[in-house]
Amino acid sequence: MSTRPVIAVDGPAAAGKGTLARRLAAHLGLAYLDTGLLYRATGRRVLDAGANPRDPAAAEAAARGLNPADLARGDLRGPEADMAASAVAAQPGVRAALLDWQRDFGRTHGAVLDGRDIGTVVFPDARVKLFVTASAEERARRRWLELRGRGAEVAQEQVLAELRARDEQDAARAVAPMKPAEDAVLIDTTEMDADAAFARALAVVEGKLSGA
Ligand code: CDP
Ligand code: CDP
Repeated sequence: MSTRPVIAVDGPAAAGKGTLARRLAAHLGLAYLDTGLLYRATGRRVLDAGANPRDPAAAEAAARGLNPADLARGDLRGPEADMAASAVAAQPGVRAALLDWQRDFGRTHGAVLDGRDIGTVVFPDARVKLFVTASAEERARRRWLELRGRGAEVAQEQVLAELRARDEQDAARAVAPMKPAEDAVLIDTTEMDADAAFARALAVVEGKLSGA
C-alpha cells in the first residue's frame, strides 16, 4: 500500500506506550506524536491561568490557545500535571479542540500516535491498533523508577494510588473513554522488558501492514 500508515498505540498510564511508539516510528520511518502531551500542556495552561482544570470554559480556552512552545515545557510531568491533564481530558470541548490537529498530523505524515482514544476516536480506521497494558503494580514500579531517576522522593504506594485514580477517571469519562478498540491487538507487557514488547509489537505491525 502506498499511503503511509497510521498506527494507534493506546493503553493506561506507564504501560510503555511512548517507549514502544517512538521505537516503532523510528524503525518504520514514520512520524511520532505523543498525544498525552496535548492534554498535559492544556492542563498546565489552565493551572498557569489560576483556573480549575475541571472548569469547562477555562479548559477549552486553554486547548484552543495551545501553541508548539507549550508542548516543549519542562513541567508537564509529575502528580499535579498528571491529574490536571486527566481532568481537562474528560471535557468534550477540550477533546474537540484537539481532534483535528491530531488527525491532520497523522494524515499528513503517516504516523505512530500514542494515547487513550487513538484507535477508538481519533483514527478508527488506523491500519494497526495496539492496546498496550501491564498490571497496575508493574506500571507503578516503572513510573516510580522514572521519578526516582529524576531525583523525586516518593513512595511506590503513592505512585500506585495516583495511577489507579487517573486510570479510573480516564476509563469512566463519558467522552472518548480509555478502552481497547474492538479490532485492537492487546499486548500485556507485565512480564516483558521494552525489547520484548517491541519485538512483539513489530511482529503484529508487520503482519497487519503486509495484509496477513
Ligand atoms: O504518560 P502517561 O501514560 O502517564 O500519560 P499521558 O499519555 O501523557 O496522558 C496524560 C493524560 O492525558 C491521561 O491520563 C489522559 O487523561 C489524557 N489523554 C487522553 O485523554 N487521550 C489521549 N489520547 C492521550 C492522553
Ligand atoms: O507512555 P507510557 O506512559 O505508557 O510509558 P513510557 O513512558 O513509555 O514507559 C514507562 C517506563 O517503562 C519507561 O521507563 C520504560 O523504559 C519502561 N518499560 C517499557 O517502556 N516497556 C516495558 N515493556 C518495560 C518497561
